[in-house]
Amino acid sequence: MAAWDLLFRRVHLATFAGSEPYGTLRDGALAVRAGRIVWLGAERDLPREARAAQEIDGAGGWLLPGLIDCHTHLVHAGNRAREFELRLQGASYEEIARAGGGIRATVAATRAADEAALVAASRPRLARLMAEGVTTVEIKSGYGLELSAERRMLRAARALGETAPVRVTTTFLGAHALPPEYDGRADAYIAEVCDVMLPALYREGLVDAVDAFCERIAFSPAQTEAVFRAARALGLPVRLHAEQLSDSGGAALAARHGALCADHLEHLSEAGAAALAAAGSVAVLLPGAFYFLRETHLPPVARLRALGVPIAIATDCNPGTSPLSSLLLALNMACVLFRLAPAEALAGVTRNAARALGRGDDLGTLEAGKLADLGLWNVDTPAELCYHLGYNPLALRVFGGQISGA
Ligand code: NIG
Ligand code: FE
Repeated sequence: MAAWDLLFRRVHLATFAGSEPYGTLRDGALAVRAGRIVWLGAERDLPREARAAQEIDGAGGWLLPGLIDCHTHLVHAGNRAREFELRLQGASYEEIARAGGGIRATVAATRAADEAALVAASRPRLARLMAEGVTTVEIKSGYGLELSAERRMLRAARALGETAPVRVTTTFLGAHALPPEYDGRADAYIAEVCDVMLPALYREGLVDAVDAFCERIAFSPAQTEAVFRAARALGLPVRLHAEQLSDSGGAALAARHGALCADHLEHLSEAGAAALAAAGSVAVLLPGAFYFLRETHLPPVARLRALGVPIAIATDCNPGTSPLSSLLLALNMACVLFRLAPAEALAGVTRNAARALGRGDDLGTLEAGKLADLGLWNVDTPAELCYHLGYNPLALRVFGGQISGA
């Protein structure tokens, strides 16, 4: 029989395929050839003639799909520690944003940075995610808010993916905030986003999906819809920052446009949850932002669960509301703050995160035919990935069939 490149033996598999929550396959083995999973099953069922160029003794650890962080603003310049101090003295995120701070502060810092500076500032954040077994990261623009600066952000995101063993998917978030030069002219800015920025960046191959921030301090449902129409006209999938601070009906709007996902959702209504369920959109929950803003209004997890809406978890890594570059900590927060079961949280950074990126066909589960992005963990149960605080039990990281880390 044809030789395999890599064979894991003496491992337990959490496949996240099938109906059991972890997709557990104890005492398993998994084989990789040409960057893909080609065989998995019980070790005792390994074909007798099985041969691999490299065998790995998992020593009873757990093998999981490579982790996927499906919502980040990882590329940006500067930080907002000063704003953090102000908020601790009582100022709210909305007050700071309305006074010209918030997202606009990061826009000023990001506009002042060239592409190399953005890559240099962002690489350590990406490295921290990768060190925890992350193999796919979504990265948004949205701190440029003008064509050239949005381009630099997206080019920096692509460059990060091309120079490290990690998959980067890019999202154009031109409709993140109103840039100061458009004060009082939000519709004109949205027209610029739809008619100039998006088509240009799309033609340059820099855009995999399109996002917007639908909120009273950002853009209205009508303005968001204009962005969605422009994206759909180019054949690009859409997603939305929805219902983070208030219920603007963003999730239902996103669902009407067949969105891959709607994200945040603390203030999601019954109707919004039902719309996501009907559309098959993923609910991406961002416990880091909930924690960092000291939010108290919980996303309706029980409702989403009852409706069968797939739930994903992400870091939302950004300088304002979630300066978090640990997906393991996001998992813990999802369990402790949002009451997700560890199996649900882990499905949220594997199977459902892949789906939120439109990559469910080739990523997110351990199944024959899928890309061999894997993490071997030195734990007794997968729930330990959610349980520890500030401890990283990654033993080995595999990207596209290549051992690349830990
Ligand atoms: O996902 N909600 C909008 N965007 C980001 C925060 C951006 C910022 O404050 O810089 C978020 O929370
Ligand atoms: Fe975000």
